[in-house]
Amino acid sequence: MAFETSKDVLDWYEKQDRTLSKEFIDGLPWHTVKDTPIDEKFVPVLLYMRDVEVLTDMYHRELQRTPTGRDPVIAKFMERWGVEEITHGQVINRFLNEAGYETPDDWQSQTHLNVTKTYHTYTYLMTMLTNLLGSRFTGTHMAFGAIHEMSTAQAYRRMKELANHPVLSIILEGIIREEAAHTHFYWSVAKLELQKSTTAQKIARKVIETFYVPVGQGSLAKSRAEYSVAMLFSGEGGVETIDRTVTQRASQLPGLDGLTRVKTKSGGICSKFRPKLAAASALVLSINLYAAV
Ligand SMILES: [Fe+2]
Ligand SMILES: [Fe+2]
Repeated sequence: MAFETSKDVLDWYEKQDRTLSKEFIDGLPWHTVKDTPIDEKFVPVLLYMRDVEVLTDMYHRELQRTPTGRDPVIAKFMERWGVEEITHGQVINRFLNEAGYETPDDWQSQTHLNVTKTYHTYTYLMTMLTNLLGSRFTGTHMAFGAIHEMSTAQAYRRMKELANHPVLSIILEGIIREEAAHTHFYWSVAKLELQKSTTAQKIARKVIETFYVPVGQGSLAKSRAEYSVAMLFSGEGGVETIDRTVTQRASQLPGLDGLTRVKTKSGGICSKFRPKLAAASALVLSINLYAAV
C-alpha cells in the first residue's frame, strides 16, 4: 500500500479496529489459564515484555518534547498507540497472575521507578540533539519505531511458538495484529520522511548503526533485555528470522540498504548467552520474580 502523505497513513491507521477491545479481553478463557502450565523460563521474558509495553507512556512524553512528537499527524497516531501498548502490558500481567505468578497492585508505578538513571540522562541529551536537528530527525524516529515494532512482533511470534500455551497464544495473536498496524504506520511515515532528504537518510543510518539496542534495553536492566532476546532467538533459525523480518525490511527504507546493526546486535547477544542459557535462566528468573513481587 503506497501512501502519498503521512495524513494518508494516519487515516489508514484510524480505520483499523482495535483487536484487544474490552469485549476481546473479557471474553478470553481466563479460567483455563492454569490448566496448562507455562514453562518458568518464559516468565522473566513476559515480565520484560510487560514492562517495556507499560513504559510507552514515558516514551510518549519524551517524544512530545521533540519536533517529531509535535507533528500533528504523528501526535494523533501516538495518542492511540500509547493506549494500545499499555493494554498489551496489562493483559500480559493479567495472564501471569492467572497462571499463578502474583504481581503487586502498583506494578506499573514500580516499573517506572525502576527505570535507570542513565536512561534519563541519555534521554535528556537526545531530546536536546533532536530539537537541534528539527524535523530532519523525524525519519530517524520513525525508522527506529518501525524496527522496534517489527522486532517486538517477532518476539511475540517466537514466544507463541515456544511457550505453546493455548490462552497466551490467543493473547499474543491479538497483540501481534496491533503491532503489525503500528509497524505499518512507522514504516510508511519513515519512508515518506526519508524520501525528503539525503541528510535525513544519513542521520537515520548513522543513529541506527551506532545506537540500536533491543527495545527496552535503554530503560530497563540490560541483563533482562539480553536474557529475553537470547531465550527467544538463540534457538535454531532465531537470528535468521530477525534478519529476514526486521533487518531486511528496515533495509528497504530510503538510505538504509545494507543495514547490519539489528542482526549483529541480536546475534551477538544470542552467541554470548547460548552456552550458559540454562544457568542464566535460573539466575534471571529469581532476580525478576523478586523484582516483581
Ligand atoms: Fe505492544
Ligand atoms: Fe507496538
